[in-house]
Amino acid sequence: MKISVIGLGYLGTTHAVAMAKLGHNVIGIEPDESRIQQLAAGELPFFEPGLGEALKQVIAAGTMSFQTQHDKASAASDIHFICVGTPQAASQQSADTSYVFAAAIQLAAVLRPSSLVVGKSTVPVGTARNLIAGMQEVAGFTPKLCWNPEFLREGTALADSLLPDRIVIGSDDPDQNQTLKLCYQDILNQGTPVLELDLETAELVKVSANAFLATKISFINAMAEIAEASGADTVKLAEAIGLDSRIGKSFLRTGIGFGGGCLPKDIRGFIARAEELGVGESLAFLKEVDQINLRRRQRVVSLATKELGEIAGKNITMLGISFKPDSDDLRDSPALEIALRLKALGGIITVHDPVSLGALEQKSTGLTTEIDLQAAIKDTELVILGTEWAEYKNLDPATVSSFPKIKTIIDGRNVLNVDTWQQAGWRVIAPGRNIVNG
Ligand code: UDX
Repeated sequence: MKISVIGLGYLGTTHAVAMAKLGHNVIGIEPDESRIQQLAAGELPFFEPGLGEALKQVIAAGTMSFQTQHDKASAASDIHFICVGTPQAASQQSADTSYVFAAAIQLAAVLRPSSLVVGKSTVPVGTARNLIAGMQEVAGFTPKLCWNPEFLREGTALADSLLPDRIVIGSDDPDQNQTLKLCYQDILNQGTPVLELDLETAELVKVSANAFLATKISFINAMAEIAEASGADTVKLAEAIGLDSRIGKSFLRTGIGFGGGCLPKDIRGFIARAEELGVGESLAFLKEVDQINLRRRQRVVSLATKELGEIAGKNITMLGISFKPDSDDLRDSPALEIALRLKALGGIITVHDPVSLGALEQKSTGLTTEIDLQAAIKDTELVILGTEWAEYKNLDPATVSSFPKIKTIIDGRNVLNVDTWQQAGWRVIAPGRNIVNG
């Protein structure tokens, strides 16, 4: 099939490559000229395991090309996927849908009645219906439009796109879903469930799934606050409740909480939309989910202050700065915010991260970056594990124990083997646990 993918951020780039891998002819459209040049050269503007190789493959196969705006060839696409971002609006909680509307209106000017428009961006419920009305005015006909939310996670983005848990399609006319199902035929042949819904329900599936995941994480982090006050251990608690198959163990990892470009802004946008709809009280609990999450960052600053007496003038090493491993995304990263708060208190912060130091340097935070792990912890008075990269999880403490004079580590992600680290001479502190150090 002939496909255009509009917006080549995380979602759009991954989706475009996935569609080309399925054998479709894909044109990626993105106004940022330098990003287009980079992608056309087979280089990813962000870190995502496996995606760069796949991009090179589809370019070499001639099934993927890039351009800054629509032309005759892209207008002739069977399907146009809208994948532009919906960031949190400036100084507001709501989602900024202006990029989605701009992309849809530009598309409407060249759209053919036979083409299917598929929205993949995460949008407030009700957006798709407004888009249909706006596009109709420009195009002069009612566009065929489905909403098909994307659930990919950074770090496993391509695999999540090609082997998703489910495909959700929302539309006013189930007949038009056939084109999209044909496009996803190879995915559906793997037995992937497909749910055909109305537009509003499809839009809601995405934000409510993210709200549920955020709630699960904040639930276990609320238990961490209880554990810290009572002497209990949240890691063991999570294991025990997670064995109940009705609860499940995923998304119960306690620590410094969730971040990234989706969960935090999606729950805030969801709260704002519920308020607009006059049912703000229904999602009032999500404000608490957000607050519990943000308190986890301060908790680590408090643990560091308790440990060091005061932060000013102290050398502190942050291991990991991205919001999660296998990503160099620093958006709303808990590790970055903790590092910045400690710096604001006068701490001398050195950051180590396997892939995110370039992204950090671009932000001009004033944090010192160090690519060599041993050099990063050499003169430190406190190590904080902020992102659970495999390199840190698998680190043998014996190999780094000769470096810092003061061997204290705050395990912000609760991934270290406490016994092994203690046996190597380290004091181990962790949010949600009351670890006894000898
Ligand atoms: C999320 C959704 O999972 C995905 O379906 C959606 O499409 C986009 O948003 P992503 O932001 O890539 O994906 O990351 P995810 O794996 O969900 O983790 C989000 C945050 O929660 C990370 O900061 C992670 O460290 C944190 N987290 C996750 C926890 O703190 N504890 C957990 O148990 C799980």
